This record gives sequence, structure tokens and C-alpha cells, in this order.
Amino acid sequence: MINNINTITLLFISCILCDNIFNTSIGTEEITYASSKGIQDFSQILKEKFVTNNSETTAASASSGTEVDIDELRENIRDIGYYLRSHKFNEYDRRYETNSTTAERIYFKTFPRPPLRSLHWEVHKYCESSFMECVNYLAKKLRGVAARRTDDTSIVMMKQHWKWKTNTAQIEQVDEECKKNKKLDDHIADPFEGPLERYQWRVTASYFMCWYTMKKTPELKRFHEKCDNFANCLDYNYGPYNDDARVDDLFDFSCALYSFCPNPCCPLKYANMMNDCLNSPENPCYRQNNVGQRACEADLEQNSEFSDIILNRWNVTCRCPQRRGYEWNSRYGICIDVDECVSKTHNCKPKVESCLNLPGSFRCICHWGYIWDEDSRECLSSMALSALKLKRKEKTKIEMMKLTLWEKIKNIIFWRKGSSSN
Ligand SMILES: *[C@@H]1O[C@H](CO)[C@@H](O)[C@H](O)[C@H]1NC(C)=O
Ligand SMILES: *[C@@H]1O[C@H](CO)[C@@H](O)[C@H](O)[C@H]1NC(C)=O
Ligand SMILES: *[C@@H]1O[C@H](CO)[C@@H](O)[C@H](O)[C@H]1NC(C)=O
Ligand SMILES: *[C@@H]1O[C@H](CO)[C@@H](O)[C@H](O)[C@H]1NC(C)=O
Repeated sequence: MINNINTITLLFISCILCDNIFNTSIGTEEITYASSKGIQDFSQILKEKFVTNNSETTAASASSGTEVDIDELRENIRDIGYYLRSHKFNEYDRRYETNSTTAERIYFKTFPRPPLRSLHWEVHKYCESSFMECVNYLAKKLRGVAARRTDDTSIVMMKQHWKWKTNTAQIEQVDEECKKNKKLDDHIADPFEGPLERYQWRVTASYFMCWYTMKKTPELKRFHEKCDNFANCLDYNYGPYNDDARVDDLFDFSCALYSFCPNPCCPLKYANMMNDCLNSPENPCYRQNNVGQRACEADLEQNSEFSDIILNRWNVTCRCPQRRGYEWNSRYGICIDVDECVSKTHNCKPKVESCLNLPGSFRCICHWGYIWDEDSRECLSSMALSALKLKRKEKTKIEMMKLTLWEKIKNIIFWRKGSSSN
């Protein structure tokens, strides 16, 4: 199981280094802190509520778990997954974009930048209290939308075991209906007040569902259904399933990540093979590393802070080209020097040596009052060293005396030669 999670994190690949995103990410922080104080406030509120209250609510839902209909729960999760995937792969920023033709659709790369100023109140209300209430509320709301999962061409084709060749007419008919519903959903956006409210609803729902995924909510491990589609009727490039290399419901949380979260390690809409991720300049580990060393990991545990998820502050891990002394820092998107002195990975003798951090390494230097002794190769207190030096001096004196004695003898023996040196 642990292996599975690791595999997923490996698949869950990202981009913080790529110029534009890195730049915007700094921009976002500025926007967030400078102009929308609201974000800070509500994230603080959320933090307090979640940290203290989540364990209780999870326990409560688990203890009343006998009443949960597991099939209904799974169906609900699949419905929510479908509708949020549709947002992730096909939606644009309804707050700022005026022309839907030219608008960028990039929510497979990041959560909206800048983030929502305020969460959708109703999603917030239910999703904050517990996972079960969140799922029940979201699924109930989705019963009123025009573009439902069960009417999507891909899903119908799977359920009916239709093949393109033998069921062309039926598929085309279903797809026409599907496209009509999509259009309706896009313009009227029932049961929401309009596309803008739906936008806020879906972004908020994605924040929460992604957060529950990062927290490894067990119910989200499997969808028990293929989920590798863009939730946008039949895709004529890929067919009902796109076989994206990053998603396979056999792996824990694979469908949940694919449906609810952007992928910071591999911000591509489609990846046929994992190599597409590794060798994409959008992979944050691409730039500093050579082929074969571009693995990017985004661990679920390291990305489970709700307020940071909203701000796209993803933590990814890359290999650093300098093997030792450097480590990847996803906050800055670069390999940075490890401070061995702070991280306590140095081997300086605490009593007599201080640690001095250097780029890529460190050095041990003698404490104040201690002096490096070349002979014994250690730091000695100046007093000990003076005593030692004195001792050594005496030793040398004796040797000198011995020497002088020898010299004398030498001089006596070779007095003629010696006399010239006098
Ligand atoms: C990102 O910022 C750097 C330094 O400020 C700048 O040179 C670069 O052109 C920027 N990239 C983009 C895509 O804006
Ligand atoms: C848990 O949440 C409830 C309602 O949201 C609140 O009244 C209560 O004080 C919270 N408990 C803790 C320990 O914060
Ligand atoms: C949107 O952009 C496209 C392409 O630039 C243009 O043809 C179209 O007229 C624009 N629509 C509106 C409503 O501005
Ligand atoms: C990333 O790591 C930092 C430092 O440990 C942490 O504060 C932050 O919450 C993490 N980001 C996410 C999305 O959890």
C-alpha cells in the first residue's frame, strides 16, 4: 500500500520552476497578502477549525458508519469527480475572462490565481464539518445539473459495452444529447445562480475534495470506475478513455488526484507516458537536471495544509545536480545549500568546535579560546595548548641539546671542516 502511495506521488508531478508559473506564484502571494486580506483571515479560521475539530468529526462519521450506504457513497464520489474533472479540464476563469474563445483553460495546472476571495458559503458550511456531509451535500446539489455523469457519452459507452464500429449510430445520438446538455450547463448553469456562482462552487468544492485527498481520506482511494476522461462528452482525439499514464484506479487516490487536484509535478493536460512528464519543461525538476534524473515527487502528506493548497504552494521534491550538500526547495523552486549546521547533520565536536556552513558543505572551526593544533589535529583550549607547547619546547630543547652535543662531537671529529663554519 505504501508502494502504491509512493507511485502516485511520483505520478503527481509539477511546475513551480517554469518561468511563468514561478513568476505568477510570487505575484499571487503579493496579491493575497496585499489586497485580499480576506484569504488570510478565512484560512486562519479554517486552520483553527480543521486542526482541532477534524478528528472528532471523522470519528463521528466512522462510528455512525453503519448507516452509510457504500454503493451510494461510491456513486456520489464518482459524480462529484466527474463534475469537478469537467471544471479542471474545461473551465476558464469566469471572474476575469470575458471572451470564452480566447480564455485559457489551465486548471489542470494550478488552482485559480489569484485564489478565490471567499469560499462558496454553502460548500464551505458542509465540507468544513465532515467528509461525509461534504460528499452528501455536493452530490445532492449535482442532481440538479444538466450535464450529469451518467449521461456522458464515455460513461454510457462503458456501461453499454458499446464499440465504435458496431454502435456508431447510438454513440452519435448519445453524444449529441451530451453536447446539448453541456452547452445548457455552460450557459444557464442550473441549479446555480449562473456561471459565476457555479465557478465559485466548483473551485471551492475542488479545494475541499483535493484537501480530503491529501489527507488520505480512505473513501477516496478508489473510484471503482475508470476516470481517465476530460468529462466533456466523447473526445474524438482519445475516445471514451484517454489512458493517461498518470491515472489508474488500481492505485490509491489516483482518480481522486486526477479529478480534484492540479498536478504540480506534471502540469500537462494529457500525458501518454510518464516520460512526457519527466521530459516536459513544465516539470519543475526539468531545468536543473539531465535526462534520467528528472523525477519529481509531490507527497500527499507534505501537501495537506488547506490554506496552502488554495494558494498553490505545492511542495515537490527533485534531485539536485550536486549530490551532496544541496537539496530541492520547492518554495523557491531551486536547489539550495543545505545548512548542515542548522539541520545538525554536521560532525563537529560540540564541546570544542563550532559549525560553519559553506556552499555545498560545512567546516568545523574551533570555539573562541580554542586553537587548532596541527599535531594532534584537534581544537585545544589555549591553556592546554600553551602547556603542550611548553612541553614540546622542552622536548625540542633536549633534542637541541642532544643535537648540540652531537654537533660538538662532530666538530671535534671533523674539527678542521667544522672550523670553517665557525
Ligand atoms: C520571470 O521573472 C524573471 C525575473 O524577474 C524575468 O526575467 C522573466 O522574463 C519572467 N518570466 C515571465 C514569463 O514573465
Ligand atoms: C468544533 O466545532 C464546533 C462547531 O463548529 C465548535 O463549536 C467547537 O468549539 C469546536 N471544537 C473545538 C475543540 O474547537
Ligand atoms: C473572442 O475572440 C475571438 C478570437 O480572437 C473573436 O473572433 C471573437 O469575436 C471574440 N468574441 C467576443 C465576444 O469578443
Ligand atoms: C509545504 O511545506 C511547507 C513547509 O513545510 C508547509 O508550511 C506548507 O503547508 C506545505 N504546503 C502544503 C500545500 O501543504
